[in-house]
Amino acid sequence: MTSDSLIAVVGSGLMGTGIAQIAAAAGQHVLVFDAMPGAAAKAVASVGETWRKLVARGKMTDADAEAASARLAIAASLPEIKHARMVVEAIVEDLDAKRALFTELESVVAADCILASNTSSFSITLLAAKLACPERMVGMHFFNPVPLMELVEVVRGLGTSEDCAVVTFDAARRWGKTPVFAKSTPGFIVNRVARPYYAEALRLLNEGAASAASIDAVMREAGGFRMGPFELMDLIGHDTNFSVTRSIFNAFFGDQRYTPSLLQQELVEAGRWGRKSGRGFFDYTEGAVPPAPAFEPVRPAPQHFSLHGEDALTTAIAARLHSFTQVSHTTFITAGAATLQLTDGRTATERAIAERIADLVIVDYARDFATSKTLAVARAVSCSDVAFDAAVGLLQIAGCKVICLRDLPGLAVLRTVSMLANEAADAVNQGVCTVAGVNAAMRKGVNYPAGPLAWADEIGVARVRDALLCLAEYYGEDRYRISPLLREHALAGRNFGE
Ligand code: NAI
Repeated sequence: MTSDSLIAVVGSGLMGTGIAQIAAAAGQHVLVFDAMPGAAAKAVASVGETWRKLVARGKMTDADAEAASARLAIAASLPEIKHARMVVEAIVEDLDAKRALFTELESVVAADCILASNTSSFSITLLAAKLACPERMVGMHFFNPVPLMELVEVVRGLGTSEDCAVVTFDAARRWGKTPVFAKSTPGFIVNRVARPYYAEALRLLNEGAASAASIDAVMREAGGFRMGPFELMDLIGHDTNFSVTRSIFNAFFGDQRYTPSLLQQELVEAGRWGRKSGRGFFDYTEGAVPPAPAFEPVRPAPQHFSLHGEDALTTAIAARLHSFTQVSHTTFITAGAATLQLTDGRTATERAIAERIADLVIVDYARDFATSKTLAVARAVSCSDVAFDAAVGLLQIAGCKVICLRDLPGLAVLRTVSMLANEAADAVNQGVCTVAGVNAAMRKGVNYPAGPLAWADEIGVARVRDALLCLAEYYGEDRYRISPLLREHALAGRNFGE
């Protein structure tokens, strides 16, 4: 297949329209077919409109738009795509409909034409099972909106030939995307590895760690995620998000790691699907006031404080206070009577007892302590109000808003990132993708601020392992079992690297 070969896009809804747009803009000749009369013509017209807008904004030249338009046409019937070198299928997510289409396509296109499916949830192996030539079947999983999202998961089924996978990978790259190889397993890479982002937030909320607005603020402003988990679920729609979680849970034969949330099921059953229904975790009806995160009120600056050691927290607070760290064996900060320590996965209370520090406040991880607008903390039950006030006051004079969470292991950011890294490590361990692949997939497919395994390297693989051990011990659930690959790396003191 070459850069100007004929591509057919079958199914011209939301995704098919975007795929046709980027392929034609990149130089391919594209034919669009849709079973619904008029749908393909509407898609081609809407792509033309998009290009006109890009020209008006100076993002595309007139000549390029004209040339791209000349490469894009509709097919009135399936036989018209018979000369295609590759078919990208983006029809409705219905297994029987997809299988029937691929069977029909085999009788239309040439024997070496690639059949690529944009399915989000079906096994590529299963889609190919009844084909005369399963070697030519591959997953080409784009993300919505296609023109903006860089990632394409190129999914190999059991029968997919190496040539077919590589040609698809190269096509995605020519179309301006970042392709990543994945093995055909439930959720491929992104939909599987992203589960804990939603699941751990739902559990935190369910256990009263903080309000949805507060957890969102922590994940955005300390974790560095573009959207908090609750606002993101409201945007995706709880019906969709819950059904993806359920399908992955079922596909893994009920593995506890993917257990769906009863809290989310309640929302689905109540019709609170998020933005699209006007209400989810938050209210989107006109005039509704979004709930504010529960930031701690401003406390007086502590009369004295000291910084010891040089972990990420202490170093950044020192710099933010224009103070200096004193190098010492252990790392902690004191503010008035309080001791502040970076979370190691234990609850503040467990750690206060183990280390005999009554007035202990622990601080959650932040993506970047030097710039973080908000930090989450938890206090040991033995911590006095006076000490807690001093701890909060110190973080506030360093320029941070503070949200106090219920004292749960790993708080919010460390807990979530550890679970994301664990899932990513497991995907690598099971040969679904490479370390570089999972890191790129989560950055480009869901805009995470860092790849989960690169992030684990930054935090320290052993610390991530310890956080997971704390969660496993605290909850006694298989959900928090550690991926063998993560355990191996932690034991060997090795980073994942790339
Ligand atoms: P859509 O509902 O917007 O479009 C589907 C189109 O397929 C419709 O125009 C329909 O008329 C057409 N169609 C249905 N059966 C057909 C057939 N047998 N032959 C030809 N055309 C047929 O759906 P959307 O959202 O574009 O999704 C398409 C595929 O992409 C699905 O497999 C979906 O799981 C996948 N996907 C969707 C994403 C999303 O965010 N919407 C993200 C990634 C993948």
